[in-house]
Amino acid sequence: MCGIVGYTGGRQAAPIVLDGLTKLEYRGYDSAGVAISGDGGDIDIVKAKGKLKVLCDLTDGGKKLNGLCGIGHTRWATHGEPSQNNAHPHCNDDKTIVAVHNGIIENYTQLKAKLIRRGYTFYSETDTEVATKLVDYYYRKYNEPLKAISEFALHVRGSYALAVLFKDFPGEIFAIRKDSPMVIGYTDGGAFLASDVPAILKYTRNIYYTDNHEIVLLSKEGVAFYNLDREEISKSATVISWDAEAAEKGGWEHFMLKEIHEQPDVVANTVNYFLHGDNLDLSELHLSDDYLKEIDRIVITGCGSAYHVGVVAQYVFEDLARLPVTVEIASEFRYRNPVLTGRELVIVISQSGETADSLAALREMKARGVKTLAVVNVLGSSIAREADSVLYTKAGPEISVATTKAYSSQLIAMYLVALKLAKLRGTISEEYFSTLKKELTLLPEKIKTVLENKSVIQKFASEMVDKEDVFFIGRGIDYATCIESSLKLKEISYIHSEAYAAGELKHGTISLIENGTLVFGILTQKALVEKTVSNLVETASRGAYIAVLADENVDGIPVKFDKVFRIPHTDGHFSASLAVISMQLFSYYLSVLRGNDVDKPRNLAKSVTVE
Ligand code: M6R
Repeated sequence: MCGIVGYTGGRQAAPIVLDGLTKLEYRGYDSAGVAISGDGGDIDIVKAKGKLKVLCDLTDGGKKLNGLCGIGHTRWATHGEPSQNNAHPHCNDDKTIVAVHNGIIENYTQLKAKLIRRGYTFYSETDTEVATKLVDYYYRKYNEPLKAISEFALHVRGSYALAVLFKDFPGEIFAIRKDSPMVIGYTDGGAFLASDVPAILKYTRNIYYTDNHEIVLLSKEGVAFYNLDREEISKSATVISWDAEAAEKGGWEHFMLKEIHEQPDVVANTVNYFLHGDNLDLSELHLSDDYLKEIDRIVITGCGSAYHVGVVAQYVFEDLARLPVTVEIASEFRYRNPVLTGRELVIVISQSGETADSLAALREMKARGVKTLAVVNVLGSSIAREADSVLYTKAGPEISVATTKAYSSQLIAMYLVALKLAKLRGTISEEYFSTLKKELTLLPEKIKTVLENKSVIQKFASEMVDKEDVFFIGRGIDYATCIESSLKLKEISYIHSEAYAAGELKHGTISLIENGTLVFGILTQKALVEKTVSNLVETASRGAYIAVLADENVDGIPVKFDKVFRIPHTDGHFSASLAVISMQLFSYYLSVLRGNDVDKPRNLAKSVTVE
């Protein structure tokens, strides 16, 4: 989704703003722009369609734009096609008010009509131009920027992180957010704002997380926060402990490859944070044992890969803790009228903690009085702050749009909660509890083993590069791995793919199998292997090319299958953590071989803050 950056201080602003925008490229965008307030307050705007490089070339990396205060934007089109005209910043007619915006103004057509009635004209198709002219309208009315911003907030519906320059207030940036991320930073060198921490981490580690409807005034003297009544409020900064390098490629060809290889560490970090020797300590969650014993159902929700983690977790929770679990796609769940007893625990899974539908589902559940637990990676994100309880995954910043290490650490988080519930409810023996805890600590080494064998997957990807349809089939947890494998393949290689519960294929989809269609079977669930093998044989007899990914202890794989890849053995409940690694590599290599933009696949955004 869109990214915003702002800087005001003692240095030339444009290079800093452009540098910050490059750190937000991972969010996805199709055009970019900057606005720099020069001496005397005149504001220069430069915008370009396409990659940031175009904007950097136009401005010589920002050097051509003089001024110590500026804002910038990468736009992921929502209203209006990607074009220079629709790119941000947007401005009023005399360029005395200039703004960038991330989010969606839902009532922009009504607001636009109202402004047109008052004599405004519009040059773009964007809701942001409407937002900018609304601020202009209230500024002309009240002649006071804080008042104009608070009136803006009172009249718009939707989500926004909005940063505004007023010609009358050179050197100052006014900003406000609602449901779109915005962080603020400050050092002696000046004040910064951004959609995400990596954009400004090079300059400051002191980060303020803004809440909905907080107005921020940034100047070189410091940052001040106000509520909508324009009363100053105090906030304390969080010191970021991870360093900028964690968000840099560090010699890897792509962020995705780097993040795939970080998985042994992030899995170890998440396991070791909560499991000390034999002691599983989830006290940080502030969910009492009494409460956890009382819950009668678990509802898991999320989007995309986070939802897929929920599908794995459903099998694990039900089997170990003997609790009924439903897994819900957040964009559906939020609009349903689910039957709730009030004794559920709703778990919202999200890497970014900003996904609009997941956040809305969380709010809906809270409004109904149900307890919520967020499993989130980004510290201080909206979902983390609004949930009753948070379990932070320890993946560090994830830059590649295709999630890998966050997915893996979310799996671990869910295993840990399942173990805790199983123990409390007495549904597994003490001995098996210990075995599973031990097994969790062994996962990082086993993931390393999978990674060490990556050349085999790379070679296979080169043989499969021309495939146009791929089917992933499996049963139980293997089916859950299939849906994640298929999403990964689609999003970065652009190869059409389907994931099927192996037994379901013959109810229609098998008619798509032709000579040479690649069918990838996942076989880690001992009790289900025979059944899935039969389903694979069914497709083989219709001409499919059969590849399988199997636990090293699984027997009974027919010799006629075309390719067999082995992964180390682990307890069946945790096998997704190993199988998914091979599938991430498979998608990665196919994407590279097909010449795609691996880290920033077309049409996609890292953090989906629109509905
Ligand atoms: O930040 P979130 O975990 O809430 O994001 C949810 C999905 O948008 C995300 O998992 C998406 O499906 C990934 N691009 C998949 O790789």
